[in-house]
Amino acid sequence: MSKTVKCRVSPSLALIKYWGKLDLERNIPATSSLAINLKDLITETVVEFNEESEKDIMILDGEIQEGFRYNKFFNNLRSALKINKFFKAVSTNNFPSSAGLASSSSGFAALAAACTKLCDIDTPIQKISELALIGSASAARPLFGGFVLLPAGSSHAQQLYPADHWPELRIIIVEIDNKKKKISSTNAMAQVKKSSAFYASWVDSSERQLLQGLKALKHCDLEKLGIAMQKSYMRMFASMLAAYPPILYWLPDSIGVIHLCRKLRDDGISAWETMDAGPQVKILCLKSDTDLILNALKTEYPKLKTTLTSPGPGATVE
Ligand code: DP6
Repeated sequence: MSKTVKCRVSPSLALIKYWGKLDLERNIPATSSLAINLKDLITETVVEFNEESEKDIMILDGEIQEGFRYNKFFNNLRSALKINKFFKAVSTNNFPSSAGLASSSSGFAALAAACTKLCDIDTPIQKISELALIGSASAARPLFGGFVLLPAGSSHAQQLYPADHWPELRIIIVEIDNKKKKISSTNAMAQVKKSSAFYASWVDSSERQLLQGLKALKHCDLEKLGIAMQKSYMRMFASMLAAYPPILYWLPDSIGVIHLCRKLRDDGISAWETMDAGPQVKILCLKSDTDLILNALKTEYPKLKTTLTSPGPGATVE
């Protein structure tokens, strides 16, 4: 039986967003991102060498994946590790793929970690992060676990604090719609960079939000972090709305949940939402407020699925 390696990684939720590339070929981010892993969401990837043909095979949630992204990832990995083997990878997510829940972050992180281990080449985690980033820039982050920074212009991420830095922090994921998004993050970013009237100001302002976010995180100050998060995601979406054609990932219920978070905050409950390239809403809050927020969501949106989770650990490989 051929040797296999299994890797489990959680997707990486950005509190301060990466949106836009400095270098399309090398996938270098134009803005710094600050992120946590979503502990209860898991990508599990099993890899082995493909001994039957000279090509890489990638199967995600039972479907063969074709395309440029995977070819680029595997070719880069082979040349970086100086090997000439091909891979077969089977990956499953316990959450919806390509729907704005960061499945490409955990997907490419798991692939990079599993393939390097399979090759039995001692590879530092920063190097694995660099290999993952070629597939998807956000994939440079989740290998580390805890609170992670991917600086603008950098080819790998770094851990700032372990997951237990802020034990009370919780995340409520509100699934608005699970359908695959019509426009990928990669294409949306390219469209924004090319045509958005607000792209330059988005990039310019994002470092300020990062500094505010870093300071708030150091002191575990949810209100200050929430304000930085809000500016980050709202300005990221402003850059999308000002593109042509405009990009609109939000659905009516996404906006409804944003309003609900505002109302909760007006009532003194710290519920700070953020969104990514999809209609789902993620709410940061403290453990002591989770029942209240979950009940409010259930009352106003009884049909929406919610998942309560917390900042998670990094990749495990076996
Ligand atoms: C909105 O990492 O999926 O989730 O690098 O083109 O694969 P590519 O994009 P991707 O973009 C993530 C964008 C985001 C914000 C973030 O996770 O930082």
